[in-house]
Amino acid sequence: MSTAVNAAYSVLIIDDDRTIREGCRSLLETDGFRVSVQGRGDEALELVKRKSFDIVLIDQHMTPVHGLELLKACLMTNRETLAIVMTGNPSVAASLEALRLGAWDYLPKPFSASHLEVMIGRAVHVLSSAKSADVEEPSVENSGGHSDRVTLLGVSPALRQAVDLARKVAATDASVMITGESGTGKEVIAQFIHRHSRRSSSALVAINCAALPESLLESELFGHRRGAFTGADRDKPGLLETANGSTLFLDELTEMSMQTQAKLLRVLQDGVVRRVGSEREDARVDVRFISATNRDPRDAVSQGRLRADLMYRLRVVPIHLPPLRHRPEDIPLLANHFLAQTWKRHRRAGEDAPFFTPEAVAELERRHWPGNVRELQNVVEHTVVLSAPGAQITPDDIPPADDALPGEVGGDMLPSGVMSAPYHVAKEQLLAHFDRMYIASLLTRAGRNVSKAARIAGVDRTTLYRLMERYDLRRDNDGTE
Ligand SMILES: Nc1ncnc2c1ncn2[C@@H]1O[C@H](COP(=O)(O)OP(=O)(O)OP(=O)(O)O)[C@@H](O)[C@H]1O
Ligand SMILES: [Mg+2]
Repeated sequence: MSTAVNAAYSVLIIDDDRTIREGCRSLLETDGFRVSVQGRGDEALELVKRKSFDIVLIDQHMTPVHGLELLKACLMTNRETLAIVMTGNPSVAASLEALRLGAWDYLPKPFSASHLEVMIGRAVHVLSSAKSADVEEPSVENSGGHSDRVTLLGVSPALRQAVDLARKVAATDASVMITGESGTGKEVIAQFIHRHSRRSSSALVAINCAALPESLLESELFGHRRGAFTGADRDKPGLLETANGSTLFLDELTEMSMQTQAKLLRVLQDGVVRRVGSEREDARVDVRFISATNRDPRDAVSQGRLRADLMYRLRVVPIHLPPLRHRPEDIPLLANHFLAQTWKRHRRAGEDAPFFTPEAVAELERRHWPGNVRELQNVVEHTVVLSAPGAQITPDDIPPADDALPGEVGGDMLPSGVMSAPYHVAKEQLLAHFDRMYIASLLTRAGRNVSKAARIAGVDRTTLYRLMERYDLRRDNDGTE
């Protein structure tokens, strides 16, 4: 830390324990900060109401004024103050309470000098990047359509609530965990938060924890040193370093191995990144974390898939997106949006877009949507692509929902027992299952007209007939050809 740079920042230390107070003071003064100290809660309260500080270290258990009261008062005077709450009692609930009230971080007691220095170093990093972001802000705001890139539509109270929370939390550095079934819009919310944050001038860095095997995920996240494993022929920074000063989106978090979770927890605690195969500290990073999962994180903890301490760190603010079937009032808006979007993408300039009849909208609202907004989007796109300009789209034009297909397609997509069958058997079963689903949906979409169905599917009629025969989808009311 440069003492000249540090002199720009004011630090207040509030603790009734003289040893801690003076210990922190001498350490931070040596590092060049402008330091004030307070040993009494009531006097500290008077001071923070009058004067704003860049960084405030507050002992959680103070008398006669409680540390959390002091925290609130500091933030009331200056919302940008980075408040660090020192907690004697390492209970997660107490620390979380501090974070919810707006503390920037917490420091469990006892802590070492280097632990304090690491944390203050991160705070300085945040303060200095906020300063440079302030300068750039106007141009970002003026660039127009900036926030339009993330379309987040919905009128249901549940969605509005999620968006309001996202907007509020965007301004802070709090970690957000987004939950919801597949296709409910978790990624859209993550992008929304990033775009509305002071980090929006850098790109959001995203990683899907389910998409990579463990060792690869680890080296993607943490980077590696040359020679760390076969093929590591040069030093490589990981995504945590790439996301320095920005936001890291950890998608499908609960699919991360316990070992990688332990490593990640350390980064969250002290901001220090060690690349795979490295003995030393390779970088200090300031990253904002957003994670997503379609599991219930508490269940994931009790099943041993997610570390409890990591969950608490990453879930300071939880945002839940309810399934689409619980917010049908969002469907007309979303459907019309996807219709307009699809029509525009297919560039039929000058031609009127087709439109949904009220009955078609009612049909969409009625459906169960196991695949949520993504499924609605697919169905609308499919319908629109097959519609003529200016045509009205009636319920009959809308392909059937997956849950209305014949066969055993339930809420889950796999036939029962397939995962425990031997590989070749399982593969056979799954392919047959896919064929049956695909053809049933295809025939309905084509109004059971086999020639039309073959055209849509891009196969010849003989092939389609053969498949229909095999899956017994031929004779029943196939009265078209
Ligand atoms: N409220 C919304 N407004 C507009 N589009 C939305 C909304 N919610 C979701 N979408 C669209 O639906 C699709 C699925 O959303 P998204 O990828 O965010 O879902 P997800 O919850 O991350 O799903 P998964 O768990 O499968 O990754 C995207 O194309 C997205 O643009
Ligand atoms: Mg997603």
